[in-house]
Amino acid sequence: MASINENYLKLQAGYLFPEIGRRVKEYTTANPDKKVIRMGIGDVTQPLSPAIVKAFHEGVDEMAHAATFRGYGPEQGYEFLREAIAENDYQALGVNIQAGDIFISDGSKCDTGNIQEIFGSDNIIAVGDPVYPVYVDTTVMSGKTGNISKEGYFEGIVYMPCTEANGFVPEIPQQKVDLIFLCYPNNPTGTVASKEELKKWVDYALAKHCIILYDAAYQAFITEEGIPHSIYEIEGAEKCAIEFRSFSKTAGFTGTRCAFTVIPDGVHAYDKNGKAYPVKPLWNRRHTTKFNGVSYPVQKAAAAVYSEEGKKEVAEIIAYYMENARLMRESLIAAGYTVFGGVNAPYVWVKTKNGLSSWEFFDKVLHEANVVGTPGSGFGPSGEGYFRFSAFADRANVIEAMERIQQLQ
Ligand code: MLT
Repeated sequence: MASINENYLKLQAGYLFPEIGRRVKEYTTANPDKKVIRMGIGDVTQPLSPAIVKAFHEGVDEMAHAATFRGYGPEQGYEFLREAIAENDYQALGVNIQAGDIFISDGSKCDTGNIQEIFGSDNIIAVGDPVYPVYVDTTVMSGKTGNISKEGYFEGIVYMPCTEANGFVPEIPQQKVDLIFLCYPNNPTGTVASKEELKKWVDYALAKHCIILYDAAYQAFITEEGIPHSIYEIEGAEKCAIEFRSFSKTAGFTGTRCAFTVIPDGVHAYDKNGKAYPVKPLWNRRHTTKFNGVSYPVQKAAAAVYSEEGKKEVAEIIAYYMENARLMRESLIAAGYTVFGGVNAPYVWVKTKNGLSSWEFFDKVLHEANVVGTPGSGFGPSGEGYFRFSAFADRANVIEAMERIQQLQ
């Protein structure tokens, strides 16, 4: 008799975004004449830029000729892409990350979930609250938790509230933790952490032999000077942090799929006797066993992000989304909402009015303004009473959506 992984039974009904999709479909089926504007899931709307498309085509053409055809590539990714990342994303910041520290993958969602597999099931995971739901759900799937409480907290996870009071950067937890998920610029609140704030985390992780799992998927959207783009800008992080990055939002690859994980040699975890093991070879073992690499044309396309043309084009697309975010912030503030984020991240985090819960506000905005956002409570109990709008949308739709929301009673 086949048995199931009962940890899956602990999970809430559905993953957040499919659940939103289900509710929106129900509404649009019942109201086919309504124009619904989607600002829920952070999914890009602008096409791949010309330099990226050109490289993508070239990659496909190479695959069409015997002389340039490629079969399996290196599981860790082609050297040309790993080198381009190391040089442009890290060495340009004065950070000592080498191509060999980089593992190309098909997405940060997968990487932030899969990384747990190389760590023991006795690790205590700390997450922000609210948080990108993948960190929590994959912690549950991997058997590191008990059941969920009626307040929405899984037993065994350390939730670190990210609130207006602490500027959406959590306090260092009082209790013991082993693996700490941090995401900056933050999804869902759109806020950032300063170097000083990240330094506290790095110092803590070094002192307690913890590992920081740093999701920097939105670093390209930072517009203000002085905000760290990488955890490795903080001294000592190369000994205690793994960083996840993605081309999804940076360069419009949500449908194309390419991301990477960075694990420097200095990051160690321990066996039961306290013996230290470097983490990179474990991830390499997992990656080479369970993953056959991202396709060659996609990696060619990703490398074009670092070409002169590619950099210029990608910067323009990012500026387009950030102008959306600016318009959204201004309109929502003018409509009397308290608004966070949207300056260094493509998400705007809004306090609901009149004590509406996040899902009540979701229904109101969907039914009365025909706009889709994401209920803050879907990201964790501390997100209750908040709502997230994504700036990944077409400009005309952003303007129309904001006009409709301004007219909400
Ligand atoms: C989000 O909307 O939070 C993200 O698009 C989801 C994801 O990147 O998986």
